[in-house]
This record gives sequence, structure tokens and C-alpha cells, in this order.
Amino acid sequence: MAIDSRLLMRIRREFPAAEKDPSGRKRAFLDNGAGTLVTRRSAEAEAEARIDWSANVGNLFPESVGAGETILEGRRAVADLLRAESPDTIISGESCTSLLFALSYALSRNLKGDSNVVLTGYEHYANINPWAELGGMGLISQLRLAKFDLDTGLLDHEDLKKQIDKNTKVVSVTAASNVLGTRSDLKVIGKMAKEVGALFVIDAVHHVAHGPTDVRKIGCDALVFSGYKLFSRHGSYMYLTPELVEKLHPYKVDPSPKHGPEKWEWGTRDQAMFAAIRGAVDYLVWLTNPNSKIPPKPGPQRAAKLREAMEMIEDYEREITRIVLDGYGKILGLRHIPGLTVFGPKDSASRLGRDPTFSFKLAGYDDHGLSKILWSKYALAVGAEDYYSRVPALYNTKTMCRATFVHYNTRDEVFALLNALWQLSEKRKK
Ligand SMILES: Cc1ncc(COP(=O)(O)O)c(C=O)c1O
Repeated sequence: MAIDSRLLMRIRREFPAAEKDPSGRKRAFLDNGAGTLVTRRSAEAEAEARIDWSANVGNLFPESVGAGETILEGRRAVADLLRAESPDTIISGESCTSLLFALSYALSRNLKGDSNVVLTGYEHYANINPWAELGGMGLISQLRLAKFDLDTGLLDHEDLKKQIDKNTKVVSVTAASNVLGTRSDLKVIGKMAKEVGALFVIDAVHHVAHGPTDVRKIGCDALVFSGYKLFSRHGSYMYLTPELVEKLHPYKVDPSPKHGPEKWEWGTRDQAMFAAIRGAVDYLVWLTNPNSKIPPKPGPQRAAKLREAMEMIEDYEREITRIVLDGYGKILGLRHIPGLTVFGPKDSASRLGRDPTFSFKLAGYDDHGLSKILWSKYALAVGAEDYYSRVPALYNTKTMCRATFVHYNTRDEVFALLNALWQLSEKRKK
């Protein structure tokens, strides 16, 4: 199945805020990189769990039993989304930042100061500081960042290969840059990590909404993503291989479970968060067959449906990417607008593709001013920030404007952005 204009209309109905902001103003929401809109199914599932299953787990009364089941169903849903071995490999946390800190602390127990950690040069700080902290404590000798090409935004695999050696303990990379949209070639990088026996960790926060994620196919040891970047609420999830869930020793309090994902979870979990992510997964499954009343069985059947959904999304977004960069008919894309610099990969037809995340600057405008005009005059929600990334500084700037599209965005919304930027570019000359 493909996302065509009829399905897109139905998709937009699944997102109550797709058309208008809370004040009732019609706008195009293009700040998805900072957090997507929430699907109705996720919000409703959360509200239901919040009211019905409000108790703590482990008791006989329905509120408690329901809470336990809700947590397990949420883990199952995430496991199917990532094609993980079992729900026992899915650990929840407050944010991916906190999960990556939890992972680095757990790994730090076996470090003696002679190993290194390798990252890409385009990481979000959530995947830098947890490892840098180990350096600060003298537990690793080096934190190495592989170069990327400032023109194409692509990772320099030669440099990455040089950075990884027999002392590399962890290779941790973002699946896609939240500023450049560059996708990391996870298969190739994973192979480099495995060749030296390093752990392979993936920050999938930015990429998770844009294509299939299959932890077993990638062969990673850990992967994190956040619900608020996947049509749900805040709260995040970490996949760990079954061996690592058991083998590592996270910081924990004595009475909490000694095995399974609960061993990794600090304090009392919020069952409504698990209901919310299950709701988002239900939505993705719905996408593959909007008229079906029979949901697929949890497990391989649902995992296959989720892959199909994410492939539909990826196909649709590939076309969006092409229009944003190259244009459509008479409207030329970002690459052609005078005075506009677009960062990251410009080749919309490359093998790896790119996420539809476009950071840009327009000569004659400061980023915040441009974001303000795009919002006030054109009703386009576009960010202007550093995005907690080291990337803007590498281009000698503090901030960039960023428009991130997801599958509920329409071609008309792309045209609206392009038209606005063309007009603002023209105005500069006058
Ligand atoms: C690539 C990437 N990694 C990590 C994070 C941080 O995620 P969280 O807010 O769940 O800690 C973000 C947030 O923008 C991100 O884009």
C-alpha cells in the first residue's frame, strides 16, 4: 500500500492537531524534529490507562493487574516495532538522554581507562556527554569523533575506520543527524564495530519516525528512541540484547528486580506511558490496512505489519524530500533559492536516502528573525536553534533554521514553505 492523497486525508484525521494549532490557526507543522504531533490513538490509550490502571503493579485488584498488563503490552509493542527478540529486551526511561547515561554508567564498571569510545561528528549531545563523562572520570582514554563532509553531510567512513581500533569499547552513532538529515550506514558501521569486538549502540531518536528499524538485522547491542518523536508522548525506550540486559549492572536500588528490564528502571514506572506508545504502534499498524477491524497478533505478524508501515512512510517521505530539495513543476526547491544555504545531503536519490530534515539559512535574515516571519506571516512552524547538536558550531554558527517533515505533512505544506522562502529571498534584493 502507498500513502496517496486519500489515505493522507485519513492520516491527518488521526492527528487532531494536524491542521490547526490550539488557538485555531491553520498552519503547517514543520517542527517535527523537535517532537511530532500526537496521534489520537496514543492520547486516548494514555488517558484510558491513566484513569483505569492507576495503581502500582504487583497486586490482585484490577487496577494493579491492568497496570502490569499495560506495561507488558507496551513492551511487546515496542519489541515488535524494533523486531526485538522479546519484550524483556525493552527498557523504559524518562528520556533517551537518561537512558544513554544509564547505559554508559553500567558499562563504566568494567572500564580501566585504556579503552576509547567512537562516535560520529554529527551527534546530538545526548549521545556525547554520557560517554564524555567516562573520560572525565578517567574510565576511557579517548572520545573520538569521526569526521563528516561539511558539503555533503556524509560520514567519512575512511576516517571512522581509522578511529576504531582494538581498544574501542563502544561505537555509538545516531541513525540520522537531527540537524543534517544524514543517515548513518548502520550495517557498515556495525560491521566495523564488531570486527574489533566493540559494542554497537544506536541513537534512533531522530530517525525512528522515518523508516523501518530492525535491531536484529542491524545487529546492534543497544538502541534508544523517544515516544515524543514517534507520534506519542514523552518517555523513552532502550533495546538491549538479551545478554546485555542480564550481564550489565546498572545503578539500582537493592529491592528492585535483579533480572529483566525492570532491573534497569529507576523508581515506579508510568503505565500510561506504555499505553501511549502502544497506541502509537496501533496507529502505525492501522496505516497498513485502514479498513481492517482485525488487528494483527502481537509478535512476528505485527512486526511485519510495522515494517510495512515504516516502508510506506519512507516511500512517501522520499518524494517529499525530492520536492523540498529539487522542486516540483514550476516551483524550484531549496537548492535553487538564491541566498539560501541548505545543510546536509542534497542528493535526493542517493542509495541510503536522507531523513526529511532540512536545516537552512537565508542570507540577510538571522535565524530567529526568519523563523518568526515564517510563523507570523506564513503560518509555518519552523525551528531556529542549536538542537543540542555540535553540528551548527562546525559551520561556524550558533543556530540554524530547521524544517522537519513527517508522513502527515502534505505536498501543499512543502509548497507553502518553498513559496515563502522564494518570496523572502526575492525581497532581499529590493
Ligand atoms: C538525535 C537525537 N538524540 C537524542 C535526543 C534527545 O532525546 P531525549 O529528549 O529523549 O533525551 C534528540 C532530541 O532532539 C535527538 O534528536
